[in-house]
Amino acid sequence: MTSAMRVRAFAKINLSLRVLGTRSDGYHELRTIFQSIGLHDTLTVRAERGPFYLTCDDPNCPDDTANLIWRAAARVWRAAGRRGAPRDVAVDLKKRIPLAAGLGGGSSDAAAALRAFARLWRVDEARVRAIAGELGADVPYFFEGGTVLGLGRGDLLFPLIDRPAAWVVLVLPNFGVSTKEAFGWWDADRKHAKDTKGGTKDTKETRNDLEEPVAARHPQIRRIVSALRNAGAWHAAMSGSGSTVFGLFLSRTAASKAASALASPSRRTLVTRTLNRPQYQRLAGI
Ligand code: C5P
Repeated sequence: MTSAMRVRAFAKINLSLRVLGTRSDGYHELRTIFQSIGLHDTLTVRAERGPFYLTCDDPNCPDDTANLIWRAAARVWRAAGRRGAPRDVAVDLKKRIPLAAGLGGGSSDAAAALRAFARLWRVDEARVRAIAGELGADVPYFFEGGTVLGLGRGDLLFPLIDRPAAWVVLVLPNFGVSTKEAFGWWDADRKHAKDTKGGTKDTKETRNDLEEPVAARHPQIRRIVSALRNAGAWHAAMSGSGSTVFGLFLSRTAASKAASALASPSRRTLVTRTLNRPQYQRLAGI
């Protein structure tokens, strides 16, 4: 590698997320619509003698083997037929996507790392795509981008015609939600509903089934969804397992106004745009 390789890892929102049931592998069966957005992390991959290492500008982001980038490095290294632990490369991660936010940051970083290492160690792109699903259910989506239907664990992908461009307001509460925990709350509440009244069947397509269980523990979520709708969002919902709530707006002005109105000491707001598949693939270097 003559100079550093820079790769962007874009975030996603879930325009809808239906939980269809539990699976024998501990995961949940989903029907979700992923949408890429402009918010992104940046990975800088450079040659440096010695064992592989990762640095990150966000002190809350793990820079040890708990970070999926480490696992991505180990898997591609092995796929390249090399022995031992990965070496002679260092990654610097500029973190802009908040952690435990339902925006797919960790998964997108892993996908970007897989692409970079594949190029570096000359592994076929098709092979690293196969590894993607083993690192996390959301990781394969980040090889596609744009508007995509996800079935199974969210890793059986069906690219859809891209939704029209929209301005996106992200409202980031000052707490995160672990994905595992959110699905656990869905299980607990469904069991409770079954025990008491048999549960409800809502077949509306554009909703997030994890929103209710998360909002039951973090009522701020519900208030943010209403506030975004009142501020003019034509669609507002929690993304993934939270804690981010997004609102879609027709104009940048309306989005910026809503973002200023909703910012408070207990939450941060960001304005970004949706990315369609060609934009995503060009910017992510796919
Ligand atoms: O695949 P990933 O490691 O990102 O998932 C984190 C956790 O979220 C899983 O261990 C599982 O508990 C939960 N999950 C789930 N069903 C999915 C995706 C994630 O139960 N479809």
